[in-house]
Amino acid sequence: MEAVGFIPSSQHLVQTNKTVTWASPSNIALVKYWGKYDPQIPANPSISFTLNHCNTKTSVTLVDQSMLSDTSTGAFSFEFSFEGAPKPDFHPKIASFFARVFDYLPFLKTYHLVINSENTFPHSSGIASSASAMAALSLCLLELSDEFPPNDQNVFSEAFYAKASFLARLGSGSAARSISGPLMQWGKTPGFKASQDLVAVPFNKVLAPIFKNFQDTILLVDKGEKVVSSTVGHGLMKDHPFAKARFQQAHDQLALLTEALVSGDMETFISVVESEALTLHAMMLTSSPYFILMKPGTLSIIEKIWNFRKNTALPVCFTLDAGANVHLLYPEMHKVQVLQFIENELVAYCQNGQYICDQVGSGSISHTVQP
Ligand code: PMV
Repeated sequence: MEAVGFIPSSQHLVQTNKTVTWASPSNIALVKYWGKYDPQIPANPSISFTLNHCNTKTSVTLVDQSMLSDTSTGAFSFEFSFEGAPKPDFHPKIASFFARVFDYLPFLKTYHLVINSENTFPHSSGIASSASAMAALSLCLLELSDEFPPNDQNVFSEAFYAKASFLARLGSGSAARSISGPLMQWGKTPGFKASQDLVAVPFNKVLAPIFKNFQDTILLVDKGEKVVSSTVGHGLMKDHPFAKARFQQAHDQLALLTEALVSGDMETFISVVESEALTLHAMMLTSSPYFILMKPGTLSIIEKIWNFRKNTALPVCFTLDAGANVHLLYPEMHKVQVLQFIENELVAYCQNGQYICDQVGSGSISHTVQP
């Protein structure tokens, strides 16, 4: 499908003063997206586990411009609150998202939006919330548009979720994967016919039972602001000396991982997932200018995980996002032992001893109160 296919053919009847609410989860990539072309087209395919507890919940109310004060220009406007307080710092990112989605949601142009958002995970925990935030906002806007109304059981169509992923992608690439779950693939790759650059699609194969309720414990090594943003990092892949080989590697690793996800081959799963995490950071180390997002604690934790795996033979592995925090991935059946290991050996490297226990989830949920 082409991007123009997401422009509605006719204007739908929208209800003024309607409030809609969606909760969208964060996600953790197993094969990493790093490098992009305009407009948010990934340079390589990626696949991620959708998380369950780390969510952004967003409500949007549609207000007719005529209801606003006399000073209103009648043009599109919005107000944004985060966890109950106005948050002007977030305005530029939201405004540029709106500028990108207007063509696909033309009804917006004559309205004022009141947006309220909150996260279930601690703010400034070093966990990127742009994926969950952009996904929840996109779902709210699309529900308000009434382009794909839910059926009598209040179930939304595949077309609704596909367009929500398309919109979310324009806010933050990885947000395309936060719409549904438990495993989402984004970016065209030869081994998977349904794969696309414009939207993320659910993994279309049966997952091996070992991945059911797969655990992700996020070790908060550093909760501070990143020294280099993802936007800058993606941009540095343009002239990166290893870009071509890296993009090809992502296709190859995705093919290997796909087989492991179906067969339950944990050895392959672990080697691909850890290789992807280290490759992502290797790209940062070899960018021009180079930069490092890992901290000493990140490396200490990785070493401890490798020792633990060697000593116990448990299928525990790590992945990293664009930051210093470590995601510890393991089957649910080993939860007790792994949590003990975290308490005994890893908590010492976490800022204020903090970590978040999450697991694979099934995607975004509507909280709209139906009249
Ligand atoms: O969605 P962005 O632009 O914040 O980029 C996310 C990039 C990584 O999180 C590092 C990898 C990924 O695939 O999620």
